Order: sequence, then C-alpha cells, then structure tokens
Amino acid sequence: MARVFSGIQPSGGMHLGNLLGALRNWAAYQSEHEAVYCVVDLHALTTAPDPAELREHTLAAAALLMSAGIDPERSTLFVQSSVGEHAELAWMMECTVGFGELRRMTQFKDKADRSDFVSAGLFTYPALQAADILLYDTDLVPVGDDQRQHIELCRDIAERFNHRYGDTFTVPAHVIPETGARVMDLQNPTDKMSKSLESAGTVAILEEAAAVARKFKRAVTDSENEVRYDPVAKPGVSNLLGILASASGRTPQAVAGEYTQYGPLKADTADAVNSLLDPIRNRYAELSSDPAEVARLLAAGADKARTTAAATLKRAQTNAGLLPRPPLAPSS
Ligand code: AMP
Ligand code: TRP
Repeated sequence: MARVFSGIQPSGGMHLGNLLGALRNWAAYQSEHEAVYCVVDLHALTTAPDPAELREHTLAAAALLMSAGIDPERSTLFVQSSVGEHAELAWMMECTVGFGELRRMTQFKDKADRSDFVSAGLFTYPALQAADILLYDTDLVPVGDDQRQHIELCRDIAERFNHRYGDTFTVPAHVIPETGARVMDLQNPTDKMSKSLESAGTVAILEEAAAVARKFKRAVTDSENEVRYDPVAKPGVSNLLGILASASGRTPQAVAGEYTQYGPLKADTADAVNSLLDPIRNRYAELSSDPAEVARLLAAGADKARTTAAATLKRAQTNAGLLPRPPLAPSS
C-alpha cells in the first residue's frame, strides 16, 4: 500500500485554503493508502511563537484535523516534537542540502522579507520538512501549490543522499489538487489566502456561518459584469469560481457557465463553503471540549510513528558512517 505523508503548522486560524488545498485531500487518502499526518510544531518555532499559544494551537490543530475527517484509528496522527527522530534526521538533511538551494526557496524569501528577525531555522526549514517526509518511506505528499518547491527540494535531497550513501530513502512525489490548490485572499485576490496575514479576506474554518457569508458578499471582484474564468485578468471572480468548483467537485469553467452576475455567484459560493464547514465546526465543538482525549489520541499516534521513524533514522545513520549508538549504561 502506498504511503502518504503531510504536515501542517499549528498556527492559529486554519483557513479555507488549508482545507481545500490540503486537509480535504488528506482525509480522502485514508481509505486506500497508509496515511501519516503531522502537526509540525518544530516548524512553528522558526518564528518564535508565544509558548502558551503554541501549546494551545498544537492541540487545536490536531482537534481540527480530526474534525476535518482525519481518523486517528485509520491514520497515524501525531505531533512532530513527540518523535525525536525528526529533529535528528533534520541535521543530516542540513548536511545534504546546499546553501544555494535553500537560498532559492521562495517561501523563505517571502517570510524573511516580512520579518525583523530571521532565524537560521527559518532558512533550514525545508531540511526539517525533508526529514519529516523521508522518515516514513513516503511515496506521496498531498499539499497545496505553495509547497511544490519544498517537495521538489526534498526529492533532490533524497536522491543526493542515496547517491552518496547507497539506497536509503524512498523518493517521494507531491500531489497537488487540480482545484483548490491556491485559494486566494477574498480582499486581495492576487495574494494567497493565509493565516499569518490578518485580513477580512481570510475565511477561517471555525468562523461562524454568518461571518463567512458576509466575507463572501464583500469579496473583491471587478468593475466589469461578466462571469468568466480568467485568473490573470479577473483574479477575484476566478477565485470565487475556483472555490465553488472545489467545494462542489466541478471545474471552474463549468461553474462559470452557470452565472451571469456576481451576486448569485457570491451567495452560492458562501453556501457551498458553509456546507463543507458546518460538520467540521460541529465536530470541533465536541472534540475541543475534551483536550485530554485529543492528547491521548496524539500519544498513541506518536507511538505508531516512532517505530517507522526509528528504523529509517538508524538506516540513514549507518549508511552515512555514524557508529551504532551504544546501549544506555545500566543505572547504578
Ligand atoms: P500551512 O498552513 O502553511 O502549514 O499549510 C498547510 C497546507 O495548506 C499546505 O499543504 C499548504 O500548501 C496548504 N495551503 C496553505 N495556504 C493555502 C492556500 N491559500 N490555498 C491552498 N492551499 C493552501
Ligand atoms: N511546510 C509545510 C507548510 O507550511 C508544512 C510541512 C512541514 C509539511 N513538514 C511537511 C508539508 C511535510 C508536507 C510534508 O505548509
């Protein structure tokens, strides 16, 4: 059975882009694949979040993934820092990736431009991401379009390591959905929807239905009055078409053929999105009232993850010439 791995940062306010670009597809993979999903709290440390918030967001992210259909019984769902092998393999990845390769990453350039303090961790972020993926002999990595470059770099790292040290890692491929891979901000439709940019243009998964409807009603379109799918000339309208298409399992072109006015398009998009979000919001309300149960499920997930991760790390260390780890001295 092919293995699938993906990760998401535990920052607050997961949004519609995360759902359509990633989470929905993660849930779909569980039936015919061995799925491993991770809340990547070590990646979040690259921007020094408040400790109390990080703790809260990590549990909330896990509860949200479960609410969005990731079943901890069928998948392996865990928190990255609970499995020490991620940080350990990341060092070997940093010694495999080139400085020049990391410097070309557009996500690094974007984030660095927006920050006063740029940590070394923000720079080496893709090396940790490669460790996440390679530890599980991953075949497929379902992500939104913004992660394409990171997954391609992960492939290059795996191939370089295998070339240097002999066959060690499975070389993974990304899977990017045809619609929903790049949900844009409703107010600034040339920027992608994002949780780090606070904006009336971001639709949070847990936002109330009425607020979601209001945001779609106020979505920026253009001064023409023609419904047509053309992301370059008509980014706002095309974003709505893409969201409705993704939420209803059609193509944006087919959806465009059904509308002549912006008002009904906005209203139907809001309705389709609210139908997707309703069950998630309801399950989240139940799960978040029992954080101990969420923590218990995560601990069981970490246990499952560790078995595979430990075997892969050992293989990588042995192949690279590190000595076997001596057993712990018996305590006196
Ligand atoms: P992040 O929130 O950056 O940890 O991203 C988690 C997942 O959501 C990744 O697979 C991203 O590619 C995906 N994602 C984030 N923002 C968007 C967006 N605006 N449209 C589609 N997918 C997105
Ligand atoms: N960098 C990814 C993002 O910002 C999150 C992530 C970390 C990830 N490790 C991963 C995604 C491994 C896929 C596979 O969205």
